[in-house]
Amino acid sequence: MTNNPTIQELSHEDRSFPPPADFAAAANAQAVEYEKAAADRIGYWEEQAQRISWETPFDTVLDWSDRPFAKWFVGGRLNAAYNCVDRHVENGLGDRVAYYFEGESGDTRTITYSDLLREVSKAANALTELGVKTGDRVAIYMPMIPETVFAMLACARLGAPHTVIFGGFSASAIADRVKDCGVEFVITADGGYRKGKPSALKSVVDEAMEDCPEVRNVLVVRRTGQDVDWNDDRDLWWHEVVDRQPEIHTPEAFDSEHPLYIMYSSGTTGKPKGIMHTTGGYLVGTSFTHWAVFDIKPDKDVFWTAADIGWVTGHSYIVYGPLANGATSVLYEGTPDTPHRGRWWEIVQKYKVSILYCAPTAIRSFMKWGRDIPAQYDLSSLRLLGSVGEPINPEAWMWYREHIGGNRCPVVDTWWQTENGSILISPLPGVTETKPGSAMRPLPGIVADVFDDEGNSVEPGNGGYLVVKEPWPSMLRTLWGDEERFKKTYWSQYPEVYFAGDGAKIDRDGDFWVLGRVDDVLNVSGHRMSTAEIESALVAHPKVAEAAVVGAKDEMTGQAIEAFVILRESADDGGDDVVNDLRSHVRSSIGPIATPRSIMIVPDLPKTRSGKIMRRLLKDVAENREVGDVTTLADSSVMDLIQKGMKES
Ligand code: WTA
Repeated sequence: MTNNPTIQELSHEDRSFPPPADFAAAANAQAVEYEKAAADRIGYWEEQAQRISWETPFDTVLDWSDRPFAKWFVGGRLNAAYNCVDRHVENGLGDRVAYYFEGESGDTRTITYSDLLREVSKAANALTELGVKTGDRVAIYMPMIPETVFAMLACARLGAPHTVIFGGFSASAIADRVKDCGVEFVITADGGYRKGKPSALKSVVDEAMEDCPEVRNVLVVRRTGQDVDWNDDRDLWWHEVVDRQPEIHTPEAFDSEHPLYIMYSSGTTGKPKGIMHTTGGYLVGTSFTHWAVFDIKPDKDVFWTAADIGWVTGHSYIVYGPLANGATSVLYEGTPDTPHRGRWWEIVQKYKVSILYCAPTAIRSFMKWGRDIPAQYDLSSLRLLGSVGEPINPEAWMWYREHIGGNRCPVVDTWWQTENGSILISPLPGVTETKPGSAMRPLPGIVADVFDDEGNSVEPGNGGYLVVKEPWPSMLRTLWGDEERFKKTYWSQYPEVYFAGDGAKIDRDGDFWVLGRVDDVLNVSGHRMSTAEIESALVAHPKVAEAAVVGAKDEMTGQAIEAFVILRESADDGGDDVVNDLRSHVRSSIGPIATPRSIMIVPDLPKTRSGKIMRRLLKDVAENREVGDVTTLADSSVMDLIQKGMKES
């Protein structure tokens, strides 16, 4: 990995930015947090667990005897929804705004904690009436509207783990998840507003349900009012069932290790993994990091995670972390350029957003659109900026700091994964002197490192594999229904150490630079996808004999999907029609985010003598580099043919 060009680029970074003095003085997390956690890590987490209200206190902080299956806050009982909603109302904060909802077309709703309590209670009563019980899994396929949060918290209230499926996924992606998770109850909406028009969701669920006979009910929120097909035996309107429910619901406390949710994420094989999070540790991790990394002052800040609730970032930093802390958040339904490219900055100005958290892809789009756009808005309410989802290049970091943060807001580049549940590596905004492009240090209580192939810590400046050496409260507990895969994916490279699947280096100051995936997982605009998943969608097409997918560097999206396809002999010889056909086939099998940037029809694929596709060589082609060592290929002329084809097309 030391030859990785990215490492060379990064090693020249010598700019650094200390926190402004006034920010540092008032910051939630001071340097002493590192000292406390280093002196007594378990005691530190015990202290953090006091952020949460326990119906029954836990007796053991961590049980790591059955590793890699961790148990946190053992013996404790709690309800996640109670922690996110009821207790704030009981503490007299019922009038505090939980969400400023902004629809894409400009419709708004203000939801206080009292409103949230009422809506979540009604939804929980409705689910109970419809037979949803503790332990049942509920799938949620929704736009970014308040009912999505109500639905999640209603599930949490009943101890029915939710599995939220990103609204951009296709019918077959829904069906796969519903079946893998044994879901019998689905919550969706007629549609949502995206890019200026109503998008359809219910019709996608209808299609998925053809393959999911075990689903009893589909509860449908009316958002756009578009026409929908209706199955009287199965479908129910949210407003008809939920609105008539009692506004009081008593939450039951569940074991700290009771499953809270399952979130599917791409792995290195075609089948997505059901990453399972439990209740106590997850809430401790999200509320602690929301306090420490985002410096949240719940009575003053307006916090905005501009991500989708369908991804883990939305779960942890739109829903559970901010609500556990009693914070006020913005919930925005739509895209950054609808109806105009100043939409986000208009929202920051309107709600006086003080903390903004988003992905580098968005920042790079804003850079492309130009600094004049944010300059037209009053962004002086901002005091802290965060980035997540993919490596942020130093230019984008600097642009974010200067043109959005007015050179006064600390920028926190936060590294974590769906599996981690909450941020693991990040600056503390009032403590850390940040460097553009570095996620800096493991948070207090987190023990991360970079290992070489043998499992030794790399020398400063050298690249290796990012690992976490001690368990942490919000870690995934298993993969739904597949303990073997859980052990193999994360715990088999090095004994008792969590293998993240990311490459990283630690510089001479001890700061971490995350370089991206080292496996066959792609990161396109912060969305994770596996090459295998896209390949299997391609080969499912009748015209395709074989396919190989690689991620190529892309200025806007971080990585872009490049597919190399061998057609069946019966198919016509390529041409635009086949390519367009295949692109739309991938869109409809997985979703628009999986659409390849380009598809190249090739006569053959580069394979080793044992038949393994050498994606590294295809990546060289896709990134316009000189093709690397071809000596292990079964047929070394293949690469010449592919490159020749590339030049001709
Ligand atoms: C990447 C999103 C560099 C990484 C919360 C990881 C990052 C994957 C960063 C997880 C960052 C996330 N710098 N890379 N700050 N944050 N990643 O599960 O490759 O959707 O493994 O979780 O995104 O993506 P996931």
